[in-house]
Amino acid sequence: MKHTDIKEVFDQPKFGEQVTVCGWVRTSRDSKNVAFVELNDGTSLKHLQIVLDKESGKNFPEDALKLGTSLKVTGNVVEGRNSVPEINAEEIVVLGSCPADYPLQKKRHTLEFLRTMPHLRGRTNTFNAVLRVRSVLAASLHEYFQSHNYVYVNTPLITGSDCEGAGEMFQVTTIGYSDQYKNADEYYANDFFGKKAGLSVSGQLEGEMAAMAMGKIYTFGPSFRAENSNTPKHLAEFWHIEPEVAFAELPDVIEIAEDMLKYVIGNVLKKCPKEMEFFEAHFEEGLRARLEDLISHEFATVTYTEAIKLLKESGEKFVYPVEWGVDLQTEHERYISEKVFKRAVFVTDYPKEIKSFYMKQNPDGKTVAAVDLLVPGVGEIIGGSEREADYDKLIAAMNERHMNLDLYTDYTDLRKFGSVPHGGFGLGFERLVMYVTGVQNIRDVILFPRTVGNIR
Ligand code: 4AD
Repeated sequence: MKHTDIKEVFDQPKFGEQVTVCGWVRTSRDSKNVAFVELNDGTSLKHLQIVLDKESGKNFPEDALKLGTSLKVTGNVVEGRNSVPEINAEEIVVLGSCPADYPLQKKRHTLEFLRTMPHLRGRTNTFNAVLRVRSVLAASLHEYFQSHNYVYVNTPLITGSDCEGAGEMFQVTTIGYSDQYKNADEYYANDFFGKKAGLSVSGQLEGEMAAMAMGKIYTFGPSFRAENSNTPKHLAEFWHIEPEVAFAELPDVIEIAEDMLKYVIGNVLKKCPKEMEFFEAHFEEGLRARLEDLISHEFATVTYTEAIKLLKESGEKFVYPVEWGVDLQTEHERYISEKVFKRAVFVTDYPKEIKSFYMKQNPDGKTVAAVDLLVPGVGEIIGGSEREADYDKLIAAMNERHMNLDLYTDYTDLRKFGSVPHGGFGLGFERLVMYVTGVQNIRDVILFPRTVGNIR
């Protein structure tokens, strides 16, 4: 259908010329001689005003004023108030009319209400802005890695091995409920892959295999976690960016994470000024200043051991008590980044018992070369490490965890055939979108959230 994007009408207004635009009616006003329709086609956060001169003798369809109706409008571009372009309608075609039970009748609905209609909430200002910022962030991440010699690789979503070893894998099976097998082994032998399979919680293990050939790689795809975490920052299906770099140690991993984040956030501030203005007005006062502050200061770094000491000395009453050896909870992470450092902070060198088998073992025998990035407002958005490159040490760590080594021979082989120091991290894309927009619930930064007990 030949037409002009509404964004183009605003960005390069051709006053006096005729255009055809399409979109959905967001609001309308009617009076005796004239009616106004605010049209939005999704390309712009701002609606385009269509003026219907009822005295012109033109026959405008009655449905053109109904909320949610889709229209094709042809008319002249004219200068409205403050030189903002508007369209003086000459012809209006109703593409699809919309009845009065259209649920998005009010100017502002609660986010909870909108969650009940994922198929329609994209038509609200909030989702218009969220989805565009998501898109710009995704493109910026690709841009960052592509311009730094990384190769984009696609790792499998169905896998036979569990990367994180936390027992959070969704099972993939074609058999379903059955009591015809004697035991689990027989069941899996009869299943599609002839063994137990699941949805990948991370592309890291395969990412490492690719990095051992291509040097610098990144993945950008969905990861799946069957965690029973009904929190504002957990999804069962989230998008995951995982760079993996050969010839890199922990400080290199930290440097890449900081550089990448500053680049992509800077890009959003440049490319999405209207969206950021919207989030600032409706979600978080001071949002832009917070992000500008982030990109103009060095991130802090603290070891886990020091962080525990700071938390213990804080005098703060935490729901989860703090002791060396415990995993940091969101309340601890936020206290460290919001109260202690007041900025983004890398926490390094965690106890080996609370981290994954693949992390490089530190000489102290107690900690591993892990790193999490904590940011104010969200907590952890990045988790990574230098990897254990020594075959014997890796096998020992896997044995300590009673892992089935047969499932990981491809992975452990990498340490036999030209092993090198290497490392990488995982960035939760939705957590990044939350951080950049100030939207506080992860369900509101992805159009179709999958969370425990919630699928449609
Ligand atoms: O810290 P995680 O579990 O690390 C890994 O998966 C590593 N294999 C990454 C690597 O080194 N390549 O997860 C990484 C990030 C977290 O920091 C968080 O931002 C996000 O993934 N994440 C989730 N986001 C939304 N919902 C969930 N359930 C998430 N679990 C992790």
